[in-house]
Amino acid sequence: MTRRPYIVGNWKMHGTRAMLSEARAIDRAAQRHPKVEVAIAPPYTLIHPIHREAEQIAVGAQDCHEAEGGAHTGDISAAMVADAGATFVILGHSERRQGHGESDALVRAKAGAAFAAGLRVIMCCGETAATRESGEAVAFVRGQLAASLPPVGELPAEIAERLCVAYEPIWAIGTGTAATTGDIAEMHRAIRALLVELLGEEHGPEVRILYGGSVKPENAAAIFAVPEVGGALVGGASLTADSFMGIALAATEPFVS
Ligand code: 13P
Repeated sequence: MTRRPYIVGNWKMHGTRAMLSEARAIDRAAQRHPKVEVAIAPPYTLIHPIHREAEQIAVGAQDCHEAEGGAHTGDISAAMVADAGATFVILGHSERRQGHGESDALVRAKAGAAFAAGLRVIMCCGETAATRESGEAVAFVRGQLAASLPPVGELPAEIAERLCVAYEPIWAIGTGTAATTGDIAEMHRAIRALLVELLGEEHGPEVRILYGGSVKPENAAAIFAVPEVGGALVGGASLTADSFMGIALAATEPFVS
């Protein structure tokens, strides 16, 4: 692990302005741990308020529209979230793919829009329990990821800085049961191999691969010790500074990979 561990909180549809105090506490704690890169993706409504106050943490969005602008009632563009202070966007989360019918092609278009707006992208992928039980998890995730990333010719030159992959097995999200370190190791190895195939020997090894799905302070150190794990995408445990920074602290220990 040559790059700083990256710990990202996905607040999902949680958080009104009452949560700003939690964001402040996370920012203060992150200032004391500069060896870890800490970021939060709050609901759209909190991007600007958190960005305005944050001194250390980056702020991101949980989605964006694929178009630059236009008649898309209720949607928000990549340029708009960037204007509000977001420096990255989470795309292809399973809650968007399943809850909003987002296809690989749509996620790919969103990634193109996000890169064009200067944002970094956290590209999510992950299989259902049924796919894992059928023994097809690795093949499924490889296919999903390859189809969700824009073609190589359309990626920004500094892709390793701009792209991050998050492996989030759907059956581990919000269940309290993370994937085993063996399952994580196998999938992250497969994702790394795909990234090298797609991006080449210069960039493929540098893109960080995060694990997400029931990461908690109690299991974080074991997950971070898995080869090719470059950090975590955290849902429920990112909602309080105590638990979120407990996970970030676990990442200050030297990574094995
Ligand atoms: P939990 O950490 O709540 O399982 O959520 C993971 C997730 O979906 C992060 O994007």
